[in-house]
Order: sequence, then structure tokens, then C-alpha cells
Amino acid sequence: MQELVYLNGWVGSFDNAHISINDRGYNFGDGIYEVVRTYDGKMFAVDDHLKRLETSAAVLEIGLPWDKKQLNAIISDLLEQSEIREAIIYIQITRGTAHRNHLYDPDIRPNLLITIRSTPDISQSTYIQGVNIISCPEFRWQMCHVKSTSLAAAVMAKNKAHRAGAAEAVFVMDDGIVTECTSSNIFIYKGGTLMTHPANNRILAGITRKHILNLAEDMGMHIRPEPFKFEDMIGADEVFLTGSTSEVIPVVDIDGQIIAGGKPGPITGKLHQAFISLRS
Ligand code: PDD
Repeated sequence: MQELVYLNGWVGSFDNAHISINDRGYNFGDGIYEVVRTYDGKMFAVDDHLKRLETSAAVLEIGLPWDKKQLNAIISDLLEQSEIREAIIYIQITRGTAHRNHLYDPDIRPNLLITIRSTPDISQSTYIQGVNIISCPEFRWQMCHVKSTSLAAAVMAKNKAHRAGAAEAVFVMDDGIVTECTSSNIFIYKGGTLMTHPANNRILAGITRKHILNLAEDMGMHIRPEPFKFEDMIGADEVFLTGSTSEVIPVVDIDGQIIAGGKPGPITGKLHQAFISLRS
């Protein structure tokens, strides 16, 4: 009996299994997984797990080069080699390996990892006595202020924008509040006031954003770091994006609606120039 790893066709031990630091699962959390239990060497409900894996892949738009039958065969083969009868099978598929970029090549090949380990012991007393749990606010997907590598949703939105011929996607909440973009913050300028979403759990408090706010203040601009709505953005005099890679980028079109007559505005240009002067 031995714990085994399958990684893109290679089979060996946990210690010898390696994957590129450019794996998108590592950089973006851009992947999916399943956990399957075996009883006396037989997988329980494997078809249900593989169906759910396919659904997860479809939602994240990961094109699987294996069908359920092929995956089942690879898993069964590894299980047999391991000779573990009471196993936990972990199946992970990431979008693939490429230099870090939210945009992915549609032809990228997914990485397939399967591991076989012995089922952890759960003592009988757990079932007899029960367990304590704690309550916790539902905060999953609500930690945009953390520069976390769980970026699957951002990756999806960025690639949707790319397919629509757009440079970025701006996130809009159900109530119409605009938060930020997939990898940049967003500002609007209207009637002499500069607005951007306040730094709370809804946005990543960009370093560029902070410096732009400081520069705007130094210029004597009226600043309101407050939530604004989609209509405010569409009706703004100027809209721009900020980020470490992009610096300050004017927005001239949102969903086909022309902003500021379709030309970068003077305030955006002035702030970008001021930002450039910070670099040296
Ligand atoms: N992204 N908002 C999000 C969601 C971001 O991912 C980023 C940066 C920003 C701007 O933050 P800063 O000004 O500190 O770069 C805002 C980087 C550039 C990235 O993921 O590649």
C-alpha cells in the first residue's frame, strides 16, 4: 500500500511531484477539484463527482481534454497501483501553465493532478457524541480588500471583457454600486468632484489609487471616496482606471456607451502626469 500522485501522466510519490510556479491554480486559484471516497477499493458515487467536476469546469470555462470515462480510467488505474482500499481521492484540474496574466490562451492545456491517500480515522465517539461547531458570517467572496490569489472570478470577468473587445471589466453590485475592476481601481470625475469607492471589503485598496487621491488633494481637487452608481459613471465627465501595471488609464466607452465624448479627459491626463512625476 502506498500513497500516490498522478500529475499530467507522471506517477510517483508526494515528495517527488512538482508543478510549475506558473500553474494558474497557484497564481490565480484558477482551478477546480473533487474529493472521492473509496470503500473496500471501490469508489463511492464517482459518476456524481465527475459530473460535478464537469459542471465546475463549464462554469469556469475550462475546456477539459478528458471525458468522464477517461478520467475514471486514470483514477481507477492509480487507485489500483496504490493498493489502498479505504482511500480519499483528490482530483484537481487547473486551467494550465502560462506566464501570469489574467487573460488566458483559449488553447492552454489543463493540468491534471490526482492523489490517493488513506482515509483519515474518525473515531466512533465522534458519531456517538456529536461535535461542537461555531457560527461565522458568510464572508466567502466578500474579501476583495485582501490581495488574495483566489482570483477565479476576476479571471472570468477579465476574459469576458477581452472577448467583447474591451480592456477591463468593471464590477457592478446588484444595487448598481460600482466597486472596482478585475485588476484595477476605478475613478469618476464629475462637476469638479473626484470619486472612487471607499476602501472597504468591497475593493482592493490600490496603492496607485492611494497616490492618485493624495495627488488630487494636493491639486486642491474636491475628493469624495464614496460609493457611486453605474448611472453616475456613465454620466461622468471623466472615468479612469488605476493600477501598478497600468498607472492611470482613461476610459472612453463602457458597454458601448460613450464617456466624455469618447476622448481622454484633461483631469485624467493631469493626474497621470503628476503620477509619472512620482516615479523618479
Ligand atoms: N492588480 N483592484 C484589483 C482587484 C487589483 O487586482 C489591483 C492590482 C488593483 C490596483 O492595485 P495597485 O494600484 O496596488 O496595483 C485594484 C495587479 C496589478 C494584478 O493583479 O496584476
